[in-house]
Amino acid sequence: MAHQVTLIPGDGIGPEISAAMREVVAASGVDIDWHVQEAGAKVMEAEGTPLPEHVLDSVRETGTALKGPVTTPVGSGFRSVNVALRRAFDLFACVRPCLSMPGDGSRYDGVDLVIVRENTEDLYAGIEFDEGSKGARAIMDTVEREGAGTIKPDSAISLKPVSVSGSERIVRYAFDYARRNGRHKVTAVHKANIMKCTDGLFLHTAERVAADYPDIAFDSKIVDATCMGLVMAPADFDVLVLPNLYGDIVSDLCAGLVGGLGLAPGSNIGEHQAIFEATHGSAPDIAGKDIANPTAMILSAAMMLDHLGEGAAAGRIRTAVREVLAEGTCVTADIRRALSGSTEGCVGTQAYGKAVAARVAELG
Ligand code: NAI
Repeated sequence: MAHQVTLIPGDGIGPEISAAMREVVAASGVDIDWHVQEAGAKVMEAEGTPLPEHVLDSVRETGTALKGPVTTPVGSGFRSVNVALRRAFDLFACVRPCLSMPGDGSRYDGVDLVIVRENTEDLYAGIEFDEGSKGARAIMDTVEREGAGTIKPDSAISLKPVSVSGSERIVRYAFDYARRNGRHKVTAVHKANIMKCTDGLFLHTAERVAADYPDIAFDSKIVDATCMGLVMAPADFDVLVLPNLYGDIVSDLCAGLVGGLGLAPGSNIGEHQAIFEATHGSAPDIAGKDIANPTAMILSAAMMLDHLGEGAAAGRIRTAVREVLAEGTCVTADIRRALSGSTEGCVGTQAYGKAVAARVAELG
């Protein structure tokens, strides 16, 4: 029976990389009914919202979505579709594997790590108060009354809520992921030496949960030291679990270790829904030119196939990407530039997608 999947192609380069991805998935032989749903700026013009209810209904119904990037115009009052989707379905875990591929043009070999980022709390939850607002004033008064310090009166304020339940849920997810995927170590990343209450709570929760998983090694590392360690010896890391904001920053750092945003897949997982998407944005600077790298979208589709129980097809897609990149003769401009400093001899988005699709079919 066909798998039911919502496809949100998105805007910018989204439709181009989605087309290339569909060709690759079709070549894998897995039967998918794509429920195509539009979201973003164009829909905003037509329907008055960038994320219409029928898109949410579709994801609710299928439980699985693959999403292209969606532009969030700065300062337009247009709420981020990505943040709205995460909130609507409580997609608490953002999972981003970072795996070196031969010919990925990066400086490192042997990187094979997974970022598990908490997706709902922390400074990233967006609970903020403008400079001069009543809310900011009330917080300043509380801080002073409690003897917790002083805040300059001309400050804007963001809150950093970190809960026991939210921390436990993400840390358990990281350990369960490690078990399911034959991984050996989970590292909790924090700044508990300075943020003793919030990051301290995250760290202590991680230590407590780790005791339930004696088969998986556990350690913890301060976020700044983690960044240095990732740049100096990325192969030392396995699964990293992080609060929201550190996870956001460190996952892009890790994408840079394995060839950049064009190669980095991702997923946002909740109890009942899962949305798979490339890490990068809509790349308006290269949209409509058939030069974007669709690999991150293709590898996100492979993660989705794993989730749907189609591990063999997912494996064939990863092998095909690996082989085509390793050969180096049919790669997109970003990879060619990273390898040789020039884009000469690169191929377009669709040609690359066809090459990967052909290889997937051969492997089948
Ligand atoms: P971006 O990731 O779109 O682009 C950053 C740079 O990387 C650009 O030079 C772009 O050309 C390049 N790039 C990105 N993806 C590429 C690919 N597949 N192949 C080759 N080159 C690629 O980030 P930016 O410019 O900060 O954001 C653009 C828009 O995307 C913004 O409106 C932002 O809000 C949105 N965005 C959406 C995301 C999503 O839907 N998940 C995630 C991140 C940003």
